[in-house]
Amino acid sequence: MHRILIVDDEPNLRQVLEMYFTQKGYEVIQASSGTEALKVFEGGEGFHLVICDIKMPDMDGLKVLGEIKARAEHVPVIMVTAFGSHLGALEALRSGASDYIAKPFELEELAFRARKAIEKLALEKQVYELREEVAARTKFGFIVGKSAAMQKVGQLVEKVASSTATVLLSGESGTGKELVARAIHDLGPRKRASFVSINCAAIPETLLESELFGYERGAFTGAVRNAPGLFLEADKGTLLLDEIGEMSLGMQVKLLRVLQDHRVRPVGATREFEVDVRVIASTNQDLQAAVADKRFREDLYYRINVIHLALPPLRERKEDIPILVQHFLKKFCAAQGIPLKKVSMDAMRILENYAWPGNVRELENIVERAVALEPGGVLRLSSLPGHLASLPLPALPAADLPEEGLDLGRHLDSIARRLILQALERTDGNQTRAAKLLKMSFRSFRYYVQKFKIKDLVNPGRSAD
Ligand SMILES: Nc1ncnc2c1ncn2[C@@H]1O[C@H](COP(=O)(O)OP(=O)(O)OP(=O)(O)O)[C@@H](O)[C@H]1O
Ligand SMILES: [Mg+2]
Repeated sequence: MHRILIVDDEPNLRQVLEMYFTQKGYEVIQASSGTEALKVFEGGEGFHLVICDIKMPDMDGLKVLGEIKARAEHVPVIMVTAFGSHLGALEALRSGASDYIAKPFELEELAFRARKAIEKLALEKQVYELREEVAARTKFGFIVGKSAAMQKVGQLVEKVASSTATVLLSGESGTGKELVARAIHDLGPRKRASFVSINCAAIPETLLESELFGYERGAFTGAVRNAPGLFLEADKGTLLLDEIGEMSLGMQVKLLRVLQDHRVRPVGATREFEVDVRVIASTNQDLQAAVADKRFREDLYYRINVIHLALPPLRERKEDIPILVQHFLKKFCAAQGIPLKKVSMDAMRILENYAWPGNVRELENIVERAVALEPGGVLRLSSLPGHLASLPLPALPAADLPEEGLDLGRHLDSIARRLILQALERTDGNQTRAAKLLKMSFRSFRYYVQKFKIKDLVNPGRSAD
């Protein structure tokens, strides 16, 4: 139910308004003066609208408006002005009133404006919540990785986000360059403006120029109207130039000029436009080698390589694989609205030891596929594509005595635990068969299951068959 605070020194008008709005299904609170209004309003929680008279003896309505806005900026206030007082109305709007109505007014008219103000409040709240949600989703918490290399990337992202320095992101395909570029944008002061990205390799040179800088009507056949181009679209925001290494030398000159002058000239235009764009460039090739080969301009290279962030290939940070798998499992199970699946130890060992030529993107696709295909709660070798499932299982780590010695009992326990888990996975949680695989009695097997507190994988329905 929507709650309205009515502030007016005239008891009759208050009474009429209360009756009218109550009948329409609102909850109405009355206040006979500004002082009283502020007392009941407090922090504004629970109020959806204030209707306030401008002319009141103890505290001027505009003053009340100011106080209310100071306490709860989002709550809309409709001011009731004296007949013919346009100045009052203007003043009210300037001070933050969302609307005004002049005395004498029709109740219907006021009700209409009240409804509009409340609807707008609801909409703004929704937009705000959506924004918060999007912001949370793209926080760099979503750059998953615990390897030293990724931790360093995370720290750098945070550091560079607040500057406008050009960033060069390098890394093989699928290592997360676009993800990192977005994180830099989202964590910095430009997050409310646009993040625009363009793949320089996918677009022919002539088109790339008009895509980036825009064009004026009539600049070429087909240019039937002015187009602003991506630099202007990204004004105050961030522009990601993906695969910049593929840009032709001619375009490189033009880009360099824009980066130096912060001005763009649309194709066919005589004017230039000032732009304030943070540029992030990414490449999956060795730009320095391209410079040496004269395929990439040295001056542009130095211009974009102010801060260099190298994303290591996944095979060089295998410790990130299990948490990435977990991350994608959560993502895809949630997307399908199914309970979170697990990954069998065998399957995980394969995933951890595969070379991942397509890096994180390939891993993401494989988890998505496995979640879609596996009807059970555990992803197994059979849920992986053939070229992965058929890889030889890597051997368990050799038992070498480390320099500083080790706790033998604990070490043996951890090995026993791993083997028991694997046996359970292979037998689908059947303890009798798992015990057989490990050549031990059912009783000893139960002993270990209890000792290691293994509950998840044990299939209670089939434990004693
Ligand atoms: N560290 C990470 N944490 C979570 N997700 C990641 C991570 N790295 C990459 N991804 C995901 O992997 C996919 C590929 O990443 P992205 O598109 O950023 O790669 P890229 O380096 O731009 O690849 P390409 O060179 O092919 O364009 C995306 O869905 C991205 O969200
Ligand atoms: Mg990319």
